[in-house]
Amino acid sequence: MDTLTVSQHIIEQQKQFPEATGEYTGLLENIILAAKIITREVRKAGLVEIMEITGKKNVQGEDVQKLDVFANDTMVKILGRGGHVCIMASEEVEDPIYPVDGYPIGKYVVSFDPLDGSSNIDVNASIGTIFGVHRRKSEGGRGTIDDLLQKGTELVGAGYVIYGSSTIMVYSAGFGVHGFTYDPSVGEFLLSHEDIRIPSKGSIYSINEGNTIYWDEPIRKYVEYLKSKHNHVKKPYTARYIGSLVADFHRNLLRGGIFLYPRDNKDPKKPHGKLRLLYEAQPLAYIVEQAGGAASTGTERILDIQPTELHQRVPLIIGSKEDVEMVEEFIAGKY
Ligand code: AHG
Ligand code: MN
Ligand code: MN
Repeated sequence: MDTLTVSQHIIEQQKQFPEATGEYTGLLENIILAAKIITREVRKAGLVEIMEITGKKNVQGEDVQKLDVFANDTMVKILGRGGHVCIMASEEVEDPIYPVDGYPIGKYVVSFDPLDGSSNIDVNASIGTIFGVHRRKSEGGRGTIDDLLQKGTELVGAGYVIYGSSTIMVYSAGFGVHGFTYDPSVGEFLLSHEDIRIPSKGSIYSINEGNTIYWDEPIRKYVEYLKSKHNHVKKPYTARYIGSLVADFHRNLLRGGIFLYPRDNKDPKKPHGKLRLLYEAQPLAYIVEQAGGAASTGTERILDIQPTELHQRVPLIIGSKEDVEMVEEFIAGKY
């Protein structure tokens, strides 16, 4: 493994831009610090019950917080005092979040899902943190809601941290996608996956097939097609679905394949599927495109969608380029 850290890697990339102030590196360092603290907490998640049984609570003698609340508070505190953000949005918080009073206000806007796949915590499967970074549009003072409601095409960077068999941070600042594995013995994320490219087509499909009866006809037809030996690869695709977007996405990014959370008619209140545009779909769409893949609602490129609400949901079809294009063709009625 190389000994290049995330910060060193960004500094290398920024050498091409003499006008860069280093503020972006500072913001990323804040996110990295949050990721280290969240990873420490995730790694002892299973011990919480034991500590409760033994009446120990945690080492500080405080009540043990739910992990998703802890992850959210960690991101909010660190970014809110870091001096690089003017406004933030989190899956866990209804309204926009502002920098902590008395701390400097920066030029970046961060949207995040502090703990993705939280239903997997109790069963010890992988979970993650997702973030997207925009530059502020407003001038001076705290940011505004319009700073948050920017298209994915305006992202200046995005990434995720996956708390799996090891902790890995994958990020892009517009110069390809790079992965860094956390080495707890030195307390740093070290470059482990340089310039990740997603295969142009894969053989894995990831979708919650329990929802089949709720899908639109083209998605049903497409999934049946993938499972047929008469499809374009002449053998059925392999199904893989963890139920943690970050984990399902990360596997498909490395191996090639497609992830779908389409719109469905299961819940009339969620006509656009389940996943959120700002802090789930946009960052991963940015990363997948940087890696040579694609992300679509089935009819529109994710990065082109103009957000209208903080917690807006979108259908998400993401992964290898040729696979995403094929779903769009099914939806367009080509097959
Ligand atoms: P979160 O834990 O942040 O609420 O996100 C859960 C999401 C996502 O991680 C995953 O892809 C999806 O929910 C799974 O949903 P289903 O259980 O409906 O398949
Ligand atoms: Mn999520
Ligand atoms: Mn979440």
